[in-house]
Amino acid sequence: MTIASIGDLREAARRRLPRMLFDYIDGAAYDEKTMRWNEADFDRLRLVQRPLAGIDATALAVTVLGAEQALPLVIAPAGFTGLMARRGEVQAARAAKAAGIPQCLSTVSIASVAEVKRDSGVALWFQLYVTRDRGITRDLLAQAAAAGCPVLAVTVDISAASRRERDVRNHFSLGSDRRFGDWLDMAFHPRWLLDMARSPRLSFGNLEHLPGAGRGLMSQAGFVTRHLDYTLNWRDIDWLRAEWKGKLIVKGITHPEDARRAAAAGADGLVVSNHGGRQLDTGISSIAALPGVVEAVGERLEVLMDSGIRRGSDVVKALALGAKACLIGRAFLYGLGARGEAGVAQALEILKAEIAVVLAHIGVADVRALHARRHEFLAPVT
Ligand SMILES: Cc1cc2nc3c(=O)[nH]c(=O)nc-3n(C[C@H](O)[C@H](O)[C@H](O)COP(=O)(O)O)c2cc1C
Repeated sequence: MTIASIGDLREAARRRLPRMLFDYIDGAAYDEKTMRWNEADFDRLRLVQRPLAGIDATALAVTVLGAEQALPLVIAPAGFTGLMARRGEVQAARAAKAAGIPQCLSTVSIASVAEVKRDSGVALWFQLYVTRDRGITRDLLAQAAAAGCPVLAVTVDISAASRRERDVRNHFSLGSDRRFGDWLDMAFHPRWLLDMARSPRLSFGNLEHLPGAGRGLMSQAGFVTRHLDYTLNWRDIDWLRAEWKGKLIVKGITHPEDARRAAAAGADGLVVSNHGGRQLDTGISSIAALPGVVEAVGERLEVLMDSGIRRGSDVVKALALGAKACLIGRAFLYGLGARGEAGVAQALEILKAEIAVVLAHIGVADVRALHARRHEFLAPVT
């Protein structure tokens, strides 16, 4: 099929992937309201066209946490990415490297942080899920440091194990045995199946060597779930700050008071995020939460945002409200599920072109000027 948009990549991914995997990417917690609001709330911000600005080239580069990158985008951490395409994390990393942007790798990636760095050379950040056994957390930190990750993103929006009902219905959850229908689902998606059949045995690359992790993906997924620290609190962020020598960002903040506490804990930045609506359903959308957080800590911390980015205009609006860059989750996963590395490259190319078009229309030549000049082109709908 011809691909014109992230929405088209979504449709292409839906065709290529077994339903169980497509729904794992596409779904969210409970009624999926927050996921929908993440996208819909961008529509509450409208742009005013400012013609005759004489713009013949747009500048899209930004400096995030001390490093320049070609676009205001970062590949978001996503667990099980290597199920969407063979060594999916490496394929995504190569596309990110070619586009000049960083990738943030999930704790629960199939390819290890060392492997992704070695095989892509991408500017690699590491996303941490803190475990109750701090020995495991220390081991993960050591792997990230050894791979030269300059940035650690600690994810804090998992205060409880949430429920994604599509996963439950598709038996894509821990402890579910595969049913006959699940095998049929895979068999009816031969392009995916052939690709994955050539994959090395699947496991979580960052965890497989740990005592008790077991062999195979499902055993290791059980291991992670048993060890996740749902009681994480601010003292743990202090502890992490002392342990990690690089840049530390807190992912999953939507309240200004929490943003202030992250600043007080010595974080270098934060990600305004609700995990793409995959944790607290009916939680506030990220774009609605962003202005309050920027007002609280924008002078002190680098504020990034994610959740709901599907268009270049979404990125422009987020930057106008004070985000330095946006992480993209599903937008890259749809590309990967549709066409592997080429699909991720296409997703990035689409967003890049859309950002440039919007900039020209609103009369701002450089993404770095968006926040300061927001009053010239942003019209909230009340
Ligand atoms: C399939 C999938 C898996 C995810 N896994 C993780 C993860 O392992 N760690 C994490 O911090 N966030 C994870 N996230 C959340 C993303 O990092 C990001 O916050 C979210 O996807 C942003 O919303 P968007 O998909 O609308 O762009 C995951 C998201 C998806 C869609």
